[in-house]
Amino acid sequence: MAGNRVGIVGVTGYLGGELARVLSSHPGLDLVGAVARNPSGPTLGECCPFLSDVREVRVSRSPEGLDCDLAFLALPPGEAMRTTPGLRARGIRVVDLSEDYRLKDLAKYEQEHGSPHQDPEGLAEAQYGLTELHRTSIRGAQVVANPGCYPTAAILAVHPLAARGLLSGPVVIDAKSGTSGAGAGPTSATHHPAVAGDVHPYGNGSHRHYREILEALPRGAGTPISLTFTPHLIPIVRGLLCSIYLPALQGEPGEEAMSAIREAYAHELFVKVGEIPRIPWVVGSNRCLLGLEPNPGSLTVFSAIDNLLKGGAGQAVQNANLMLGRPEHEGLPAGGMGL
Ligand SMILES: NC(=O)c1ccc[n+]([C@@H]2O[C@H](COP(=O)([O-])OP(=O)(O)OC[C@H]3O[C@@H](n4cnc5c(N)ncnc54)[C@H](OP(=O)(O)O)[C@@H]3O)[C@@H](O)[C@H]2O)c1
Repeated sequence: MAGNRVGIVGVTGYLGGELARVLSSHPGLDLVGAVARNPSGPTLGECCPFLSDVREVRVSRSPEGLDCDLAFLALPPGEAMRTTPGLRARGIRVVDLSEDYRLKDLAKYEQEHGSPHQDPEGLAEAQYGLTELHRTSIRGAQVVANPGCYPTAAILAVHPLAARGLLSGPVVIDAKSGTSGAGAGPTSATHHPAVAGDVHPYGNGSHRHYREILEALPRGAGTPISLTFTPHLIPIVRGLLCSIYLPALQGEPGEEAMSAIREAYAHELFVKVGEIPRIPWVVGSNRCLLGLEPNPGSLTVFSAIDNLLKGGAGQAVQNANLMLGRPEHEGLPAGGMGL
């Protein structure tokens, strides 16, 4: 099978760098170009010192010269929807890692962001790309909206129950992430002295991932889903863990719910149900690990991912593999670091 030509826009960021690292050893996707607004040199090896030997990939200042089958956009929200139409006009398919194409409803997008969407046509054709749940629509998509990191961990845990109508009360998602989730730009909230000795809740009730999670969950017989989502910053760099409390499940103790989750992922390489996961088990891996803890009349699900891989660059490559007709798991690590 000949390789497919891919490019990265935003290669100097955390996800751009992670994409470059994964793609530099991918056997079937050839990284042919990258874009950065302030490249520190003309080649990838100079822009990403951890890939100093990769001298054949040129880094330019504009996506206009990018000549490839598919481009990964690792840009801040708002920039991807300005970049996508130019790429699409040249027949380049897009996997967008920002949130620009995740909310399908234009009115909801504008309500959430307080400004109009810059690419309503692209939004209309974009497909939400949580790989294990949307393979068919991802394969044929021109634009894939790669899910957020918290939504990936939360939706994989809750979706099997929502799909079978097993949610009968409020779902509480207590989420904890490493600081790389906030991107490479330093802020007072993510600065090392502010984070290193603390566990800090933020964005409770207003975090942009709240609506994304809500929108991605199926509604059995029109039942509304009630969600509490509280993210926290914790003093680690990469990886996240969601503890998800699910009330009043059928069966005792939550047997039907546990079977629903186990059955949903029984044949998946990148989603595994087992013991309560530890974050180091998923760091460096494209896997989501789910652990189930039944209580009388309720179930707690623990969901761990590496925010930069299954929560970002890894899932983006998994989606690109599907879009380009390649084996879905090609070039992606399943095992974690362990420490
Ligand atoms: N970090 C995560 O765990 C994670 C997970 C899932 C999704 N996401 C989403 O993925 C996207 C990238 O995340 P990230 O963590 O990699 O962010 P990041 O580290 O802040 O990197 C952003 C990249 O975009 C470039 N950029 C910034 N402003 C720009 C502009 N106005 N025009 C063109 N390029 C611009 C930056 O270039 P400079 O180097 O010149 O600033 C950098 O290359 C974001 O939308 C984020 O919300 C992040």
